[in-house]
Amino acid sequence: MSQKILVTSALPYANGSIHLGHLVEYIQTDVYVRYRRSLGDDVTYVCAADSHGTPIEVNASKAGVSPKEFVERYRKEQHQDFQRFGVDFSTYYTTDSDENRKWAWRIWDALKSRGLIYKKSVEQLFCQKDGRFLPDRFVKGTCPKCATPGQYGDVCEKCGTTYDPRELKDPRCAICGTSPVVRASDHAYVDLKKVEPAIRAWVEGEGHLDAAVREQVKGWLDDLQDWCITRDAPYFGFPVNDADFPGKFIYVWLDAPIGYLSSGERYFADEAPSADRLDPAAYEATYLAPGSPSRLEHFIGKDILRFHAVFWPAMLGAAGLKLPHRLAVHGHLTVNGEKMSKSRGTFVTARTYLDAGLDPQLLRYYYAANLGPGVSDLDLSLDEFRNRINADLANNVANLASRVFALLERAGGDLTGDPEEGIAGVTREALRLARPAYQALEYREVVRLVNQVADTCNKRLQEGKPWEAPTSPASRTLLLSCGRALRAISVMLWPVMPVFADDLCAAFGQSRPGTWAADFDPFVGAPVVARAKPPQIARLDAKQVAKLVAAPEASAPAPAAPPATGFIGFDDFMKVELKVALVRAAVRVPKADKLLQLTVDVGEPDPRTIVAGIATSYPEPEALVGRRIVVVANLEPRALRGIISQGMLLAAGDPPRVILVDEGVAPGTRVK
Ligand code: MSP
Ligand code: ZN
Repeated sequence: MSQKILVTSALPYANGSIHLGHLVEYIQTDVYVRYRRSLGDDVTYVCAADSHGTPIEVNASKAGVSPKEFVERYRKEQHQDFQRFGVDFSTYYTTDSDENRKWAWRIWDALKSRGLIYKKSVEQLFCQKDGRFLPDRFVKGTCPKCATPGQYGDVCEKCGTTYDPRELKDPRCAICGTSPVVRASDHAYVDLKKVEPAIRAWVEGEGHLDAAVREQVKGWLDDLQDWCITRDAPYFGFPVNDADFPGKFIYVWLDAPIGYLSSGERYFADEAPSADRLDPAAYEATYLAPGSPSRLEHFIGKDILRFHAVFWPAMLGAAGLKLPHRLAVHGHLTVNGEKMSKSRGTFVTARTYLDAGLDPQLLRYYYAANLGPGVSDLDLSLDEFRNRINADLANNVANLASRVFALLERAGGDLTGDPEEGIAGVTREALRLARPAYQALEYREVVRLVNQVADTCNKRLQEGKPWEAPTSPASRTLLLSCGRALRAISVMLWPVMPVFADDLCAAFGQSRPGTWAADFDPFVGAPVVARAKPPQIARLDAKQVAKLVAAPEASAPAPAAPPATGFIGFDDFMKVELKVALVRAAVRVPKADKLLQLTVDVGEPDPRTIVAGIATSYPEPEALVGRRIVVVANLEPRALRGIISQGMLLAAGDPPRVILVDEGVAPGTRVK
């Protein structure tokens, strides 16, 4: 029977680009969503940009735009990036919406009417220059324990001590660098101890949390701290709608998870196909009310567990809504064994991956091959990535498909009949085991099963040598069996690599079943025939994969001696990263009559400064604003007249004029 499910992934802050760390979560969730949809379940996959909070407000103001415009830019970019990686949200909304304000106020009122909110005066660091209270991450100072300078206001990265920002020695405002003062202000707190038994009952509930995660949460419940849910102005968020807390704003972490509910409401009211539309009351009755006929499942990273396993059930419970059926928690991504880091060049964005010309399905496959239900971290080792893709996909699965295809063409005709027992047995068993593995988020087990089937077929081809007599009955049975086994592989692999899997199936005149039933048998159905060339997986080479991380040679000194021919090699050419840049500002460099200073957008979160000797061609530099030019994006930064130039632009002529690119091309596009 088809099950209605509301599935969510955490809402990414609308404050930066999606990176490969994020993608662990969204790919993990999307694979689950596709798996359930392939069973015939009715899954709504909700996500949104988390649009509130101090960092967004501060960064918007630095960028010179309103917070609304700022978050909308990132929301669009993030949604596009997710789509490119095949993450198939039903909606990608925002927490800064009317629906979310309504829900946040409603939940506030529910907490209040149950006597769970109380007022407390708290002392905090206040920057007099900026006129604002400073959140922990906006204070830097010297660790009170180990005396390491430059530490944030909540935890020392050197010795791991956590503290109150007021304990930092020589604290400074991270925005303007002045020393803050201590100031008191009234805030709203949630009295969590009153609802502790209800939270605990949920935590202990069957299937809600993985065992290790449950133990961690119980540790927090044993020592439950009340939770502050307001912030002072200036803040980008919803105002508190409660006369007891005038001028206060709702803390972002109160309205962020509420964004799951409100984005669902928005989807069903406005975005769903018309036959699926539900008005807010019907949506609530179907998805949110206690006992409603649907499941609620959240996917999150381990860093935001406390918000989801302690505060969130408290909020839902107070509002009389049902609690989640499952909270799936994953670990963090490391790259080559270390935390992603901008300075080491291992902070890999979704765009960098795409620009390297890599198929997003390969990353989905690699993550699936390494994902289980636990919170252990997942490493993207570039060597392992390459080896995995080459060994499993190129040499095993895709190779099997192309061998079978070529042999089928020689065998001729449409093949039907009974399969080989050996292949059929392994395949049916794999299909049987893959379903519970997906359900338990044991994706690595599914990947193992897929490879086992492909491996069995490849071995049988080696033994059966159908190329010696392709039309013999034995050869035809073997090819039929392999063609059908590939259909089973397509069913098992579809949640991970949907396009590849569908092409694989179609290549042999097969189709995926409308629903993957428990008794699905791939060995009956349409005849096996060489219909279309099966999809290929090109072997990855080390050079292509190395493009994911900033090339170490970019900063290495000794350049290779120029070749005697006067040519440069293709590899040298490929090292040069040419990108389209949109000129945002252009001004003369004082006391340098040939130089202009440009501010350009190359599709990165922050604009770049480029100093170029083109002033004589542009007596009115503003004429360049809004034009699209080409820059060398991976050139070592260099100071010119005391200004750091982060790249070089392409220009031609005497005096040189910039080379312009079509309006339609997005900043950051690679020039090839
Ligand atoms: N805005 C909050 C979530 C609010 S949910 C109501 C937030 N945003 S985030 O952009 O920082 O992270 C979004 C999700 O991505 C989180 O679940 C987080 O754990 C996950 N990841 C971010 N970096 C990650 C890795 N390096 N590795 C794996 N997951 C990571 O938190
Ligand atoms: Zn300041």
